[in-house]
Amino acid sequence: MAHARGTDVLITKQAVFRRFWYPIMPSGDLRGDAPKPFRLLDTDIVLWRDAAGAPAAVRDRCCHRTAKLSLGFVQDGAIACGYHGWVYGADGRLLRIPQAKDPTRATKIKVESYSARDAYGYVWVCLGEPLGGIPDIAESRDPGFRQIHEFCEEWNVSAFRIMENSFDNAHFSYVHRSSFGDVDNPVPAESEFEEHDWGFETRSVVPVKNPQLQQRNLRIDGDRTVRNNTRTWWLPFARKLRIRYPSGLIHIIVTAATPIADGRSLIVQFVLRNDTEADARAADIVAFDRQVTNEDRLILEATEADAPLDTASGEEFHMSSDKPGLIMRRKLAELLAAHGEPEMRHGAARPS
Ligand code: FES
Ligand SMILES: [Fe+2]
Repeated sequence: MAHARGTDVLITKQAVFRRFWYPIMPSGDLRGDAPKPFRLLDTDIVLWRDAAGAPAAVRDRCCHRTAKLSLGFVQDGAIACGYHGWVYGADGRLLRIPQAKDPTRATKIKVESYSARDAYGYVWVCLGEPLGGIPDIAESRDPGFRQIHEFCEEWNVSAFRIMENSFDNAHFSYVHRSSFGDVDNPVPAESEFEEHDWGFETRSVVPVKNPQLQQRNLRIDGDRTVRNNTRTWWLPFARKLRIRYPSGLIHIIVTAATPIADGRSLIVQFVLRNDTEADARAADIVAFDRQVTNEDRLILEATEADAPLDTASGEEFHMSSDKPGLIMRRKLAELLAAHGEPEMRHGAARPS
């Protein structure tokens, strides 16, 4: 059967993915009296801050005449619909019907509400009962590290493909041949794995090219260096890449792929470094990671959104360095099975 491009039914049709936390926008973007819309897992939500300044998220649909609440405004920490002014609290309950004789008379009317929280300078949302917490990045609490915001942008790619790519040692030599990859050394570094309920950790030592901008950013001379990588994957679509260079410099890249809709993701990326602005300018660090990220984007946006979890289906073939992606597929399949969900593909359940 031919596989349609951009039909990422796997992710948006699996209810269990609604039970994880995803970053939605920079925390600083959520302020004032203008609510913000977002589409998460094909669900239109609206965000604002309640009276205490905590983020609030509910379904972006007024239950009077279905207007988008994101076209309304924030009033005393609640959200007022822009159509007739019905007011809802952060828990989704209808608090006020301005036209009624008794505007605040209690009703049972409610819009669906979701968990929302600030972490690492972003607003995170979980649409269902959370299965766990927001990934814990220990270095974010270490005063020896500074945080640099890198990207928060939408790509036409499946969240799974982004995660798989992040752990794929075989792509550097090709995708990143213009930045740090060495096309003359395509055999990838070996990795060690430690599996956990929540994902895995993997370690590898990767020799890389060290172009001019990086020589400045890393304060490492010479056109080659070595990365000691420790990479963490959190189910389903978050990762941390901790690179230790021979100089002792630690460059941590945290990336989350927030599933928006079929084949569309919000890429959120920030860096933690144990150096200072005087050592390396944040703008230069972002410039190099921008080049690398755009190299990934070009290739990834041209892949099919719908990735089979069954690694023996013959739709995709594998090599030994694909191990992280194969473990991911297995763990995602186990997650679905544990929640009694068949793998949804192309609008239909895959027969098991
Ligand atoms: S549609 Fe929202 S108040 Fe009427
Ligand atoms: Fe890459």
